[in-house]
Amino acid sequence: MGATIAVLSQKGGTGKTTAVRTLTDVFRRVGLNVLAVDLDPQGNLSDYFDIDPAASPSVGDVLAGRAEAGAAIHDDVMPSNLSLAEAELLLAGKMGRELTLKRALKPIKERYDLIMLDCPPSLGLLTVNALVAADHALLSTEAQYFAMQGVEQALEVIELARDGLNPDLGWLGVVFNIADMRTRHSRDAYAALRESVGRKLFDTTIRQSIAYAEAAERAVSILDHRPDLGADYLVLADEILQRLKMAAPRARLQALAKA
Ligand SMILES: Nc1ncnc2c1ncn2[C@@H]1O[C@H](COP(=O)(O)OP(=O)(O)OP(=O)(O)O)[C@@H](O)[C@H]1O
Ligand SMILES: [Mg+2]
Repeated sequence: MGATIAVLSQKGGTGKTTAVRTLTDVFRRVGLNVLAVDLDPQGNLSDYFDIDPAASPSVGDVLAGRAEAGAAIHDDVMPSNLSLAEAELLLAGKMGRELTLKRALKPIKERYDLIMLDCPPSLGLLTVNALVAADHALLSTEAQYFAMQGVEQALEVIELARDGLNPDLGWLGVVFNIADMRTRHSRDAYAALRESVGRKLFDTTIRQSIAYAEAAERAVSILDHRPDLGADYLVLADEILQRLKMAAPRARLQALAKA
């Protein structure tokens, strides 16, 4: 039984795309079959995976009804480009607009253990499509004091998706991302979030480092570029697999982390 995870945040630049890229890498390294879907017209995830910008069809074609999902998968990535912005506009006027991605992914869902959906930095129709198609929502938040506000707004949208369109949507948790836990500001923000969302906040925080921008530029994984920093994502992946009750990949991950 595969699971689909939507990674979202209320605002931009919270490390969503880096999280999708890196978690996909980790899950693949423990033998899971993972599809990464780029739902942002900026196409950052497609770039991070070094997908040919001319790759066609793309997710925009799928949402516009011009292509089957299977045809839009290139090296286990469903890439996006600016045509997705146009597809979103088209979608807005259609019946069942919130269900389009869910319906499109249905025929390919069985092929994957996990499907990771990278949402754009807004809580609009593309993010709603992701939340309707997903089994779990994963929030990424910047390590700032106003993080709480963003998390609350994202939670409201999750509630909306649950209330009608996807009652089974689970809330996997909140990742405290791009964090400098040496500063009191970040530690206070983390404590405030813990207070508000409790155990939903992952114990693991993702450390801030310029190495992430370098890795993105070279289209290599942080796991290879700076394994010492990439270790944060191994621990986060472990927490996620625990919450997903995926014991066998979790055991393989523990072996990988020790190696
Ligand atoms: N742990 C980190 N430390 C420092 N910089 C990071 C970290 N993770 C990601 N970044 C950098 O922060 C920027 C934004 O990251 P990313 O693209 O993953 O965020 P995003 O939430 O997907 O952004 P958007 O909202 O625009 O889609 C990028 O330049 C990325 O390289
Ligand atoms: Mg992004």
